[in-house]
Amino acid sequence: MEWCLVAFLLVVVYLVTQGLRLLFAETDLVLQWCELFGNSPASLSEKVVWITGASSGLGEALSYELAEAGCCLVLSARRQERLNDVKACCIERSRMKADKILVLPLDMLAFDTHKQAVETVLKYFKKIDILINNAGRSQRALWERTSLNTDQEMLKLNVLGPLSLTKAVLPHMLDRRVGHIVCTSSVAGKFGAPGLGSYSCSKHALHGAFNCLRNETHDRNIHVTMVVAGPFFSEALIHAFTESTEKNLGLEMKPGEKRMHTKHFAHHMVVAIANKLDEVWISMHPELAFVYINQYFPAIAQRLAAIVARKRLQKIREGKTDLHS
Ligand SMILES: NC(=O)c1ccc[n+]([C@@H]2O[C@H](COP(=O)([O-])OP(=O)(O)OC[C@H]3O[C@@H](n4cnc5c(N)ncnc54)[C@H](OP(=O)(O)O)[C@@H]3O)[C@@H](O)[C@H]2O)c1
Ligand SMILES: *[C@@H]1O[C@H](CO)[C@@H](O)[C@H](O)[C@H]1NC(C)=O
Repeated sequence: MEWCLVAFLLVVVYLVTQGLRLLFAETDLVLQWCELFGNSPASLSEKVVWITGASSGLGEALSYELAEAGCCLVLSARRQERLNDVKACCIERSRMKADKILVLPLDMLAFDTHKQAVETVLKYFKKIDILINNAGRSQRALWERTSLNTDQEMLKLNVLGPLSLTKAVLPHMLDRRVGHIVCTSSVAGKFGAPGLGSYSCSKHALHGAFNCLRNETHDRNIHVTMVVAGPFFSEALIHAFTESTEKNLGLEMKPGEKRMHTKHFAHHMVVAIANKLDEVWISMHPELAFVYINQYFPAIAQRLAAIVARKRLQKIREGKTDLHS
């Protein structure tokens, strides 16, 4: 009888502790644990890390965190001047040698150039340890008004781009039997976020493709990390698609908005990479809580979301909001 009571109390203490940890969390509990007791970013020292979308937002912040950790970096995006600026900042902040960073302009949509890009990196660094598929674009539009062409362009950039580059890098990783592929996904990759139809579609697809890759290659020492991201500061809403490909959203994020600081986000993400976690959730509340509820109590999540979405959707339909909030 006493034994039962002790067991019961232990369970209660465990649940309360986990609940409290979650309440103040910016990441899922496993990643939180790794930040306390797991590998630190410094364990990535001397790894060759290729970051796409390194010219702004999260990719830029990741470059600084990984430079600080002592990595060799390949910085890719279309805007070469911006990449040069990021490289200069890395060198200044981390006092690293300039030859530890390769600026490699790359269009994710120019699939036929990806193999050549891989060869360029291999010629320079002799190996690629980690590829971070981070380049991408967001969207704000109602599903029923979104042109098929927009869906197509979104899938090309957010899904086929990463697939193409990963397929080009993979033979080298399989030969070496060392490799780690990381993808920046979104909470919109875990549930159908209203107002982000094509985007949600593209991020869900990413999980399907890369979960499959993980299942097929984990016995050959290839790791896949999917990063489920909540809102953070970046240029994403400036370049976001709308219902047609002709018009971008063109919205600047304002400092007071409820979003995670990009540096903070990048730090969490680098810890996730250092610990080779399969899937991590990095977000402020309420999004983080919602991803949890959605995972473990999907029926409740569905009802909650419907309540929250109703008012917002009404406003969007009436054109009273810019889909921003
Ligand atoms: N911000 C958020 O709240 C949020 C939330 C969840 C997930 N995410 C994801 O985070 C990732 C990074 O986005 P961000 O928020 O940091 O936005 P961002 O500041 O707009 O950065 C996007 C990056 O992608 C690059 N890119 C866009 N089109 C490209 C193309 N055709 N070829 C090569 N590079 C291209 C851009 O560089 P160039 O223009 O120089 O090519 C830029 O470096 C994306 O996958 C996004 O979906 C963001
Ligand atoms: C494949 O991956 C999924 C999700 O990542 C997982 O739930 C499933 O058990 C895996 N299947 C196999 C055969 O490994």
